[in-house]
Amino acid sequence: MKYIVTSALPYANGKLHVGHVAGAYLPADIFVRFLRLENQDVIYICGTDEHGTPISISAGKEGISPKEIVDRYHTLISDAFDGIGIEFDNFSGTAREQHHTLSQEFFTSLYEKGNITSKTTKQFYCEHDKRFLPDRYVEGICPKCGAEHARGDQCDTCGQTYETSTLKSPKCKLCGNEPIIRETKHWFLDLSQFTDRLRDWIAGKDYWKENVRNFMLNLLREGLIERSITRDLSWGVPVPLPDTEGKVLYVWFDAPIGYISSTIEWAEKQGDKDKWKDYWLNKDTKMVHFIGKDNIIFHALIWPAMLMGQDKDYCLPHDIPANEFMNLEGEKISTSRNWAIWVDEFVQDFDGEYLRYYLAANAPERQDSDFGFKDFQQKINGELNNVLGNFANRVFAFAKRHFDSQILGCELDETCKTTLKEADEALHEIRKSYYEYQVKKNTKTIIDIARLGNRFFDERKPWAMIKENKDQVQATLWTCASLLDKISVALTPILPKHMQKLRDMMQLEALNSFDDAFLSKDYILGDFSPLFRKIEDEEIQKQIDKLHAGSAVEPEKNYDPVKDEIDFEDFMKLDLRLAKVLSAERVPKTDKLLKLRIDLGFEERDLVAGIAEHYKPEDIVGKIVTMVVNLQPRKIRGVLSQGMILAAHDESGLHVLTPDGGSPGSSVQ
Ligand code: MF3
Ligand code: ZN
Repeated sequence: MKYIVTSALPYANGKLHVGHVAGAYLPADIFVRFLRLENQDVIYICGTDEHGTPISISAGKEGISPKEIVDRYHTLISDAFDGIGIEFDNFSGTAREQHHTLSQEFFTSLYEKGNITSKTTKQFYCEHDKRFLPDRYVEGICPKCGAEHARGDQCDTCGQTYETSTLKSPKCKLCGNEPIIRETKHWFLDLSQFTDRLRDWIAGKDYWKENVRNFMLNLLREGLIERSITRDLSWGVPVPLPDTEGKVLYVWFDAPIGYISSTIEWAEKQGDKDKWKDYWLNKDTKMVHFIGKDNIIFHALIWPAMLMGQDKDYCLPHDIPANEFMNLEGEKISTSRNWAIWVDEFVQDFDGEYLRYYLAANAPERQDSDFGFKDFQQKINGELNNVLGNFANRVFAFAKRHFDSQILGCELDETCKTTLKEADEALHEIRKSYYEYQVKKNTKTIIDIARLGNRFFDERKPWAMIKENKDQVQATLWTCASLLDKISVALTPILPKHMQKLRDMMQLEALNSFDDAFLSKDYILGDFSPLFRKIEDEEIQKQIDKLHAGSAVEPEKNYDPVKDEIDFEDFMKLDLRLAKVLSAERVPKTDKLLKLRIDLGFEERDLVAGIAEHYKPEDIVGKIVTMVVNLQPRKIRGVLSQGMILAAHDESGLHVLTPDGGSPGSSVQ
């Protein structure tokens, strides 16, 4: 059996940031390194995604060719991967000739089978820039809510979508002129023709992650539609049909073909140009695509359909472990606002493997996760240094002092045996979890083995026992050395460099397989130097300051979508009044709730308000607030809450609505 492992091809118009690494690259690299430890036949394939409108627009802005942009970022991205030990077997690029030829072959094969249709559509065209404008390059007034700065097909203010041609006062975002509507012919992949084949194929994928599988099942249930696969652009793979000047394949059509063209390039570099076929034209190949969740539709639906429509018998994806997103200090990573940690800069300040460790321990596998600098420091210092580094240090130091660094295999007592057995069981679990891409869980399990080691060392008190029973101490130390050995194997896919260093210091033989972790041997330890270094508070503060200083000041606003329309009668049912807060106290055992006594003029009431994180009791007492008085009373934490006070909420917190004047009891209309 063979494996093809891929990571989503990064766009060659931006640098690599930690969100990319956490989602699509590190988990794949770890999986590949693990498979190699298992002596599996695996190739790890990637390259830059070099087409698409944004790249040609960046080039236009800088006054250089798209090729120059692409070459610049290809190098930057490739160097960033080196900095964190992401090692592909081949890292190609989709602007290369080989890739163009193969992409055209893909189109032609589908075209000849009748899977591709054509249609004339209407699109915005800027006569000044002489280009068709994709939706995100047009803005105007939302035809639904009247807000400004609405995008071509969607308004960020009200969240609604609409026909592009209904946008009012459209403007070209590149030059500010008003674009015209022009007809243009495009080609579409008719996915409905693949419905049965896709359905059969998905049926066997019960081992897929639930988010990916459900996504697909939903699409199939709703019915598959045509997807446009061409664009009006000069940069890209030319459409291989007559009279198609100025039309190229849509970047998402050609990009995944990059997985194959990059493998072909790899085979050529190996001097065995047909070798790619052993992987791609082989029914026994397990192909695993690592991606972020925004790429699911392309990898699970369109790409398999494209493969099914080829004359060659390509293997289909075996698994698509799509990851969720990683946020940064509680906010969405945004490259345009420069709210990001750029890998090339980060590795100037910290060892690249510290980043690997943190991203593995915090992998966004089942839900979005957050990169927090303090948390990063805490994990590196508290786990790598204080747990693992400390354990190694103790074992080496004690062995040197009392055993001349030689810990030979010896008779083990029951406690040693149970400890080792516990570690071996963890190791079996770790192996299984690596096959299931569970990097986060494995990181924790491995550090737990080091914790077990520290506890065992403490309980056995070798420093006290050495005078009484040297044999027992030898058993203790041998057990500890063996635990370190096991950890070094299990952690190799995540921290290859550091574990190699540990194994070198332990003078262990080259690692041949994951099974080496279960071998019994004599330990002749070498010189020790600390495995990890601690990260200081000042270093972290510097990073935090840099992040804030470099990013656009205004945080991105997220507006709640506008609710369904109501009629005047509905509105009139609402009884809003002013009320004065007489007293306030925290509701015990909650962080959020305050119990308020309020005066409505005609009566007093109690109510529970979820504002305790933003208002201290003394801040709210005496204020006149706005409240809904005819809301059905509700018991909250044992208090009968009779009404609700109004507050505006945004990123900065909650703001209770206080009137400009008026007295308790007055109606608000
Ligand atoms: N460039 C795309 C992105 O960053 C990913 C392309 S993946 C591929 O979202 F399969 F198309 F190559
Ligand atoms: Zn323009």
